[in-house]
Amino acid sequence: MLDLLIRNVQTSTHEEPVDVAIAGAKIAEVAPRIEAPAGQTIEGEGRLLIPPFVDAHFHLDSVLTRIPNSSGTLREGIDNWAVYKQEQLSVEDVYQRAARYCEHAFKMGIQAIRSHVDVCDPQLRGAQALTQLKRDLSDRIDIQLVAFPQDGYYSAPQVRELLIAALDMGVDVVGGIPHNEPMYNQGTASLQELLRIAQERGLPVDVHCDESDDPNSRHVETLAALTKQMGLEGRVTASHITATAVMDPYYVSRKLIPMMAAAGLHVICNPLINIHLGGHFTHPRHRAMAPMRDLLAAGITVACAQDCNEDPWYPLGNADMFEVARMGAHVGHMMGLEALHKVFETVTVNPARIMDLPGYGLTAGCRANMVLLRADSVVDALRTSATRELIIRDGVIRAGTAAVA
Ligand code: FE2
Repeated sequence: MLDLLIRNVQTSTHEEPVDVAIAGAKIAEVAPRIEAPAGQTIEGEGRLLIPPFVDAHFHLDSVLTRIPNSSGTLREGIDNWAVYKQEQLSVEDVYQRAARYCEHAFKMGIQAIRSHVDVCDPQLRGAQALTQLKRDLSDRIDIQLVAFPQDGYYSAPQVRELLIAALDMGVDVVGGIPHNEPMYNQGTASLQELLRIAQERGLPVDVHCDESDDPNSRHVETLAALTKQMGLEGRVTASHITATAVMDPYYVSRKLIPMMAAAGLHVICNPLINIHLGGHFTHPRHRAMAPMRDLLAAGITVACAQDCNEDPWYPLGNADMFEVARMGAHVGHMMGLEALHKVFETVTVNPARIMDLPGYGLTAGCRANMVLLRADSVVDALRTSATRELIIRDGVIRAGTAAVA
């Protein structure tokens, strides 16, 4: 006997409506018509069923701080965050804010978050709070943490030890910020050291890379070259790379993107934050987001992520991955029917691949994690930020309003 049967739903991967059968915490079968007794039945009535949203780039340690940023620049955000860290940050403060956000994110259909955590703090308060939260919320959200040296790997002598200590505490991914190092060659050196640490420990890498309007900020080239030289293909992610929007198009299309593809580099764009923080100082103003369409066309796995929610870098945000995807579609010139489906993948299957989430998807054998939406197609859902009618995690209905028999 099945535990749960969801009848007559659209999916992004099947041409016709299907039934989805769930036994225990796994999907048992997906087929046009399933005749089997089930403990609970949901009549989908042609609505869209999706695997959960995956937000592969976020900052849970600064979420909901509502720190103002009057210039709207990355620099003021980093400076104001430094003051907050010194004057107000505590383990309890981080834990409570992040837990409150995750509760909301879960109801918005997100079930996996990769969060950077600032490791330049000598007490590692963010890492303490978030490694605990990761354990406490594992029944709802898969949290992956990145050891992120916000002020720079070479900003202070102890940062290396702090980053290693955070990894020892259970932080999962090695982070970096080469464009924020004092000298350009220290950006290069930081990538060499960070990739070596990741290689020694068998960990993935996710670097804030070239989050800048400077066309000469070309650390992503170094990241791609080192990834290939060190045999880390498929394990390294370049987040942001907004400088690519102002680099020479010949260099980007003929050299850089082919290098990135050959190195199996993943890319995470953060459309809302990129378009808000970037482009302040060029004239005319440019679109400060990586060329998502060209990256995808080259076979690179690209995710769109939220980055910030009510923090020193972004005063808005609502854990709505449709909002993130919609901004990506606009800025990336991806409004064709096929293109919109590809954009939808940037907040679902692509970030799941980047985070290497086991059993992700809507096929037999996958984890029974899914979201039923009040929409009849992917485009309709994207257009309306469709209401999340049911949230299912490991085969159990955890939130929502749809009728269950
Ligand atoms: Fe970020």
